[in-house]
Amino acid sequence: MNTIPYSEYDDNEIVNHSSNAHMDTILAARLSRRGALKGGIGATTAALLGGVGLSACGGGDDNKTPAAPTPAEPTPVSLNFAAVAKTNADTVSVPAGYQVSILHALGDPMHYGDATWSDKGTETPESYDRRIGDGHDGMYYFGLSEDGKYDVNRSDRGLLCVNHEYVVAPYGLHGAGSTTVDGKRPAAEVEKEIRAHGVSVVEIKRKAGSNDMEMVRGSKYNRRVTSATEMDMAGPAAGNAKLINKLSPNGKLAFGMNNNCANGYTPWGTYLTCEENYLNVIGRAAGDDAQRSASEIVALKRYGLPEGRKNPYGWDSPDGESYQRWNSKVSAATAAGDHRNSFNTFGWVVEIDPFRPDSKPVKRTALGRFNHEGSWPAPAKAGEPIVIYSGDDARNEYVYKFVSDAKWDPKDIDGGTAVGAKYLDKGKLYAARFNADGSGEWLELTHGKNGIDAGNKLYPFADQGDVLIHCRLAADFMGATKMDRPEWGGVNPLNNEVYMTMTNNSQRDGTKVPLDAANPRLKNQNGHIIRWKEEGGQAGTKFQWDVYLFGARSDNKQSENLSGLTAVNDFSSPDGLYFDQRNGNAGGLLWIQTDDGSYTDVTNCMMLAAIPGQVGDGGKVTTRDGQATIVGAQATDANVRRFLVGPFDCEITGVVVTPDGKTLFFNVQHPGEAAGDFATNTFTSHWPGNQAPASDKLHHGHKRPRSATVVVTRTDGGTIAI
Ligand code: FEO
Ligand code: CA
Ligand code: CA
Ligand code: CA
Repeated sequence: MNTIPYSEYDDNEIVNHSSNAHMDTILAARLSRRGALKGGIGATTAALLGGVGLSACGGGDDNKTPAAPTPAEPTPVSLNFAAVAKTNADTVSVPAGYQVSILHALGDPMHYGDATWSDKGTETPESYDRRIGDGHDGMYYFGLSEDGKYDVNRSDRGLLCVNHEYVVAPYGLHGAGSTTVDGKRPAAEVEKEIRAHGVSVVEIKRKAGSNDMEMVRGSKYNRRVTSATEMDMAGPAAGNAKLINKLSPNGKLAFGMNNNCANGYTPWGTYLTCEENYLNVIGRAAGDDAQRSASEIVALKRYGLPEGRKNPYGWDSPDGESYQRWNSKVSAATAAGDHRNSFNTFGWVVEIDPFRPDSKPVKRTALGRFNHEGSWPAPAKAGEPIVIYSGDDARNEYVYKFVSDAKWDPKDIDGGTAVGAKYLDKGKLYAARFNADGSGEWLELTHGKNGIDAGNKLYPFADQGDVLIHCRLAADFMGATKMDRPEWGGVNPLNNEVYMTMTNNSQRDGTKVPLDAANPRLKNQNGHIIRWKEEGGQAGTKFQWDVYLFGARSDNKQSENLSGLTAVNDFSSPDGLYFDQRNGNAGGLLWIQTDDGSYTDVTNCMMLAAIPGQVGDGGKVTTRDGQATIVGAQATDANVRRFLVGPFDCEITGVVVTPDGKTLFFNVQHPGEAAGDFATNTFTSHWPGNQAPASDKLHHGHKRPRSATVVVTRTDGGTIAI
């Protein structure tokens, strides 16, 4: 029986009750800025009140209307496939001339000695240290040279890192779903779940005479990192008093990573994997507030962990010391004697070196702690800082940017986490403010600057480590813009413009959470994709933004179709987003993936290919809800087209392409999540067993739905999509 109330922490309560959009604060800040006096009030007031057209803004530097549309830069590629129709079929549908295979699915053994998937949930917990995990999500491909090094040009052999975000309802990894006995989760189930989270690294190679790829079972590179793996804390928060716990009295270790959603990758050849909905696995005992300081209570609430909050997965319920860390409560005289700070060890970006299977993963605290969807680098340029963008995927949370102190030196390629320390442990973290006039600014989150210090009335920041552990509070104070759930981002290699999906926000109600130009639709059922162009280089602190695309049904039933989507490209709730990196770049080819619950009466989730233009290529528009905003050029069949549709009740997420552009990987997460009957092995989806051919003995014919990585190739051996 299914006893876990939700499969993913998707319906989380809003925890951002900050008053950072308060008019006085913003006006004061704006007025203090040079050049803001003329007309700045008009622009800001428009943003705060909503419903005021941009035309209401007066003159002045800060509220100029967006630049006149300029022709998009010449794009060297065009889309070259027939759009796939929307469908509710329980299969992966790809364009004519394309084929798919299953690379790996939940429970597949990565080494020899373990049985293949039983379809009965009989795999042992311990064997998940050598099996593919659940909830496939973000991923990246690293070419592998003959001598075991990162080869950015190699397409026929590589290491594929895949995130395993969570254990998916109806929990087919167990015999009969998730159970609870006398209020406690069985330890064996919890152990299996702990090991089914995390990341898998597998060696893959092309099949003979084909661009299709398969896992190299037994490879020395095949490795699992899980919610139990020991890792280092690094950067300014390492050793911080707020990370000290019974398992790490010096605050420099963490045990496990959780709910790794999307990802990133570094130019030196390491994988970044990001902890998102870690509240899935943490609780806090009732009455714990009495043991806490006032500032601790502020911080715990802001991060969604009020006292008495139950651990959704019940990982803290089995008897035994090892399960106590999943409840962040005070139970000893000092932090080194209990798990009060275990919560603070999650919510980070984790760096993994896939080329050194014995290397220890490292949590990079300089990138901040929040519901990290992912961490997307701008293209590295020699002599310039490494710049990484992140979104905090929760309703009304923020967009962040990290700028390294160190300047990129291409000689550092293949240097592993030692090089990671050089670039990722020292730098500046910023949160974004999107102004109504199409301008934006990066707000620095540094201890000792702008009132982020121990005297702060919102929260007394003890040091920079404390700022990073609680960067949401620092961003509140600085007046960052509350967004409609930031998910994936990416940087267009053609022009360095940054894209980020805002998947949806059922709780942007117009009163408690007002509309603003960057989040201009009430409820925002279908989501949008925002983009911005940095001023003064990638590390600059100002930008110009517009909304690249608004998700909508082309039948216009839910929200206005502001980007002119049609049957070949209409979509809802964009989530995954990735600029194709083949040959260094693919002419700005952009992949867009959906994780939707609003258009699913018509179609399963999907992936689209797009050739975007640039910031400013559209114009001003006012939404049905009366909010003025700026939208990019209209979608056409030529510039946005549906490439595939996934099986029933799934989300399409994670995408990467080999350097030669001939093999594409994407992930199907949570097919058949809605319901299941274990007595008859009947689920709302039977994918991938229903699509895998008989020759695919690992997956063919199985009834239980499983998250999986899918390989897409062209039957004629050509390049994908363009
Ligand atoms: Fe795990 Fe925000 O998606
Ligand atoms: Ca996501
Ligand atoms: Ca999502
Ligand atoms: Ca998901």
